[in-house]
Amino acid sequence: MNHPNWDTWRQEFPGLNKNTYLNTVSLGQLSKRSRSAVNRFLDLWEERGASAWYSYWLKELDGLRREFARLIGASVDEIAILPNISSALAAVSSSLNFEQRKRVVSCELDFPTITHHFLAKKSQGVEAHILASPDQIGVPLEAFESAIDEETALVATCRVYFTSGYIQDIQAISEMAHRKGALCLVDDYQGTGQLPIDVKRAGVDFLVTGGLKWLIGGPGVAYLYVRRELIPELEPRVAGWFGHRRQFDFDPYTLEFRDDAQRFETGTPSVAAVYAAKAGLEIINEIGPHNLRQRTAYLNQDLVARLQELGLTLRIPLDPQKQAGITILEVPEPMRVTRDLADRHIIVDKRPGAVRIAPYFYNTLEENEIVVRALDEILGLKR
Ligand SMILES: Cc1ncc(COP(=O)(O)O)c(C=O)c1O
Repeated sequence: MNHPNWDTWRQEFPGLNKNTYLNTVSLGQLSKRSRSAVNRFLDLWEERGASAWYSYWLKELDGLRREFARLIGASVDEIAILPNISSALAAVSSSLNFEQRKRVVSCELDFPTITHHFLAKKSQGVEAHILASPDQIGVPLEAFESAIDEETALVATCRVYFTSGYIQDIQAISEMAHRKGALCLVDDYQGTGQLPIDVKRAGVDFLVTGGLKWLIGGPGVAYLYVRRELIPELEPRVAGWFGHRRQFDFDPYTLEFRDDAQRFETGTPSVAAVYAAKAGLEIINEIGPHNLRQRTAYLNQDLVARLQELGLTLRIPLDPQKQAGITILEVPEPMRVTRDLADRHIIVDKRPGAVRIAPYFYNTLEENEIVVRALDEILGLKR
């Protein structure tokens, strides 16, 4: 494992000089590398016009798929690029058959785009089975075990919950799904980048994640992994020319899907977003997910200890091994607290009943101290 120089990496993100930014859980910082990649895209657009597609842009898209495949332990033919997770879910679920098996198991701590997606399929007979969380931190594996049955087509859940930072055991969940003949889809938007992942070891069938948080790539790109063995069996019912085997034949009469996961892609991608995302992913791969996990856990545990010292109520798992780099602090008026922090140039985020504080590798212990001191004042905790 290499030993990153965190001070040097921090200089790659000029925005960190403007604010105390502890909000990667909502949006990762802009790197100098992403900014100059987007400038490169703009130069090509200006200088080459449409020929930039063939000489540069399609290659950049391919490079993005490769960079992502490397990060998650997959191969490039198992990766598709889509504009957001909701579109990736739509592409995947359109290829599944819910006639024999109608149930989709998720939980109330999953990001709602998952549950909404399957609730919208109620008229097609899909039963969105949403598990409750007893403590709003996690969902016991036993609850998944008893909900997944022979009627279950898919288990669709997050690895990291966005409102508690809890890390689920996706390998166990995927094994449970497979034992009952169901498939397993993991939304890893809050995991990939800050936590290592090996999709083969985890055994999941699909993984979706987006570029704008822990992959520091900005909005406009989401990634879909589909396990190779499944690809030939799955024909999406949303199709576009980017998923066609002979895209540039422009044949309107035949629909031949590509053999690889790109069959789930549809139309023209947002190329500026691709450039920004690839530069971000390169940084993530260069530092390496094990280093990122170690650094983020170190900063986050320091933050938790400081908040606990003030006697504040945290909604996080007790076991630090189960906590990702997201700390949820329960406060009576999250809107006022985030605003008061922003007035002090401290950027965090709010969710119902709580503020979320999320240091990433480019943050420092001093920034933890700054946010905790400000919270002490704002919440009137001075003893
Ligand atoms: C876990 C998770 N899934 C999905 C999303 C968003 O999905 P989409 O790309 O469709 O906007 C978010 C955004 O915050 C998220 O945290």
